[in-house]
Amino acid sequence: MIRKVSFSVSAFALSLAMPAFADLRPVDFEKASRPSKGFVVLPVGRDGALTGLAKDADKASDGALSRALDLAKFTGETGQTLTLYDAGPFEAVLLVGTGEGLQTARDLRDYGAHAASGTKGWAKPAKVVVPDAADVALDATEAAIGARLGSYSFGKWGAAEKDEAAAPQALIFLSPKAADAEAAFRTDGEAIRAGVTFARDLISTPSNIKTPEWLALQVQEEFAGVPGVTVTVLDEKQISDLGMGALYGTGQGSTRPPRLVAIEYKGGKDGDAPIAFVGKGITFDTGGISIKPNDGMWRMRTDMSGAAGSAGAILTLAKREAKVNAVAVLALAENMPDGNAIRPGDVLTSMSGKTIEVLNTDAEGRLVLADGLWWAQETYQPKLAVTIATLTGAVVGALGREHAGLFTHDETLATMFLDAGGAAGEQLWRLPVTEATVESIRSDIADVKNIAEQGAAPGASVGAAFIMEWVKPETPFVHLDIAGTAWENAGRPTEPKGAVGFGVRLFDEIARKYEAD
Ligand code: BES
Ligand code: MN
Ligand code: ZN
Repeated sequence: MIRKVSFSVSAFALSLAMPAFADLRPVDFEKASRPSKGFVVLPVGRDGALTGLAKDADKASDGALSRALDLAKFTGETGQTLTLYDAGPFEAVLLVGTGEGLQTARDLRDYGAHAASGTKGWAKPAKVVVPDAADVALDATEAAIGARLGSYSFGKWGAAEKDEAAAPQALIFLSPKAADAEAAFRTDGEAIRAGVTFARDLISTPSNIKTPEWLALQVQEEFAGVPGVTVTVLDEKQISDLGMGALYGTGQGSTRPPRLVAIEYKGGKDGDAPIAFVGKGITFDTGGISIKPNDGMWRMRTDMSGAAGSAGAILTLAKREAKVNAVAVLALAENMPDGNAIRPGDVLTSMSGKTIEVLNTDAEGRLVLADGLWWAQETYQPKLAVTIATLTGAVVGALGREHAGLFTHDETLATMFLDAGGAAGEQLWRLPVTEATVESIRSDIADVKNIAEQGAAPGASVGAAFIMEWVKPETPFVHLDIAGTAWENAGRPTEPKGAVGFGVRLFDEIARKYEAD
């Protein structure tokens, strides 16, 4: 948890009080029994159908619950809610629609999140009846994870907020296998919560505080003492000495120098090649000399969401002691216009020796990833390398905000990622990288250029094709463009408005595939 500005950023940043981090909803587990009093949450099927313990609760209220559902014309659609106070023997009842019935872990997480948001501010702990989802063993575990993820908020900068923040009441999830559900939650569930929260906190932090140096320090502090994890930070001198001209060049216009951070987790066999997540970590993207218009530029404080998702994923793997070797490589820089900044038309030499004609300094994510990806392959010889980046506005135009773009030439990996995304609730959609797109970035004066001619090829694929120039033939590779999915504008059950932490749950699912063998 990020709570302090622990070094000198600037006098002004130091004078900021950090926000009042709202506590996530506490959860507990209890052996399922018939609810007969107090504060309760109950699932409701189509047309107000009550079954199991919810039906028992209705009986305990002499039918008051079903009469209320009738009067309110409750259809039972998924996520529909109705709150009753002083209903029969109950002080408060939250009724939550479950539609045609819940199937997956994701459905249960959403249910848990609805239970959390619908009981916000309740004066006492509430007992939650958990519906049976067809495909899930420990339903209560998943519902509790949903409650934790859904009750996240970053808080506000300001004195007033702190006093108001009353500690939230617990949700007590009822389960026939309460002990098992609790054990699974305390290990896997809290590991996911830790990874997602860490990523969201990093993404939400404004960029006057969030420099590459600050971000590297947060990683060092968060992982200090976490078993199996080693953190390495390369500073600007080491970045330059290693010949990372693309990462170095991108950060050159900022007074806050770049960093390369590696978070290595060893939970698998000794000497087993790791899976590598390489994240774009632009702590602010002004566009550089190819400066962006101001409209929405504030959003570019989240341009390190790929790095945050990668770091969060390693935290999750380490906390649940996953039997896998994995590493996150964060390519951190600030993209600023300045007398020392790179210009359109400049040529940079990357660590691999490949040269880049920079035709647009706003196509900077691919620059830092080129060096990050090459360094990751040279250092770890990974058995899978994934780049994850808020890379292009074009992917938002193509896919919107529900799916991240998936790019790979490997059919098996494509299927694996699409499935994992579905299971994790971080959905992907595959986009192509054709020969014509690869051709579109050939440069007259360097090996490649960082953008194509206007209209020569689809923008998100151009970014992917560029990064693929740094993939070694022996490295299985996937690129993810999360520009549309990193930030949630409206709010969904387990993703409140704001930073999503996209990648944490997906990479946790991916790691499970490598743990199995
Ligand atoms: N960080 C942006 C992409 C982005 C856009 C992220 C919207 C989140 C929301 C990236 O660095 C960028 O500026 N991309 C350019 C690339 C172009 C110059 C080829 C873009 O998409 O316009
Ligand atoms: Mn940019
Ligand atoms: Zn960017």
